[in-house]
Amino acid sequence: MTLQIDVVSLFPDLFPGPLSESIPGRALARGLAELHSHDLRTWGIGRHRSVDDYPYGGGAGMVLRPEPVAGALDAVRGDDGFVILLDPGGEVFSQARAADLAARPHLVLVCPRYEGVDHRIRGMVDLELSLGDYVLSGGELPALVVIDAVLRLLPGAIDAASTGEESFASGLVEYPQFTRPPEHRGERVPEILLSGDHGAVARWRHEQSIERTRARRPDLLAAWEAAHPPAPEKPRRRPRREDAGDVPLGGVVEPGEPRS
Ligand SMILES: C[S@@+](CC[C@H](N)C(=O)[O-])C[C@H]1O[C@@H](n2cnc3c(N)ncnc32)[C@H](O)[C@@H]1O
Repeated sequence: MTLQIDVVSLFPDLFPGPLSESIPGRALARGLAELHSHDLRTWGIGRHRSVDDYPYGGGAGMVLRPEPVAGALDAVRGDDGFVILLDPGGEVFSQARAADLAARPHLVLVCPRYEGVDHRIRGMVDLELSLGDYVLSGGELPALVVIDAVLRLLPGAIDAASTGEESFASGLVEYPQFTRPPEHRGERVPEILLSGDHGAVARWRHEQSIERTRARRPDLLAAWEAAHPPAPEKPRRRPRREDAGDVPLGGVVEPGEPRS
């Protein structure tokens, strides 16, 4: 199935831009997705194809009018278009959302400019997406980021093992990676990666993922731990009277108690 992607923008020539290179470029060239960008002014108002106006109630800047966006969506959304408005106040984009979008047949991304959009435009879309807590000049860069993240998840874009092990695929950030040489300026590659013991390597990578997530993204780790509660410990057998002689000298060490 070919994913259809339509972008509505005042700067349609910004697409495909960086998406024409490397992994997204190959995904498009192989026909895994079709990307079309549309000039919002096509649906602009009057001789000047105007798309913005002053905000009611006053204030700085211009606001995107609803009619051009409505016209664009009438033309490109079709029966199956999932419409996304790029907006700093939207859901923060995530790998889980990228996977959700990659499974859909048709995405329509609306890229506003100016001080923002007439509030009625929000009622025309299925999802508002933000790239993070900062303000960019327009929705085109966020749209490029979203499309890149989606294209690389399409079956056939890259080796499935790569996307399965990447940061966030499991809810954790990725473990440290090393390549040759085995030693660089006194820093050695961890011996375990050179051991050839695949089980030990997998365990080490998993532990490293957890530790790096703990250090860098405790918010992610908390969510991961909630989804992966430790297996309940088997109840310990109470010592029988006749076992008393087995208690080691110094007695049972309780957790946290210094060992003698
Ligand atoms: C200058 S911004 C408008 C910001 C708006 N006045 C506000 O305070 O939310 C213009 C456009 O850039 C896009 N944009 C800016 N920052 C963004 C972000 N973090 N994520 C997604 N889109 C963003 C949105 O499409 C937005 O409508």
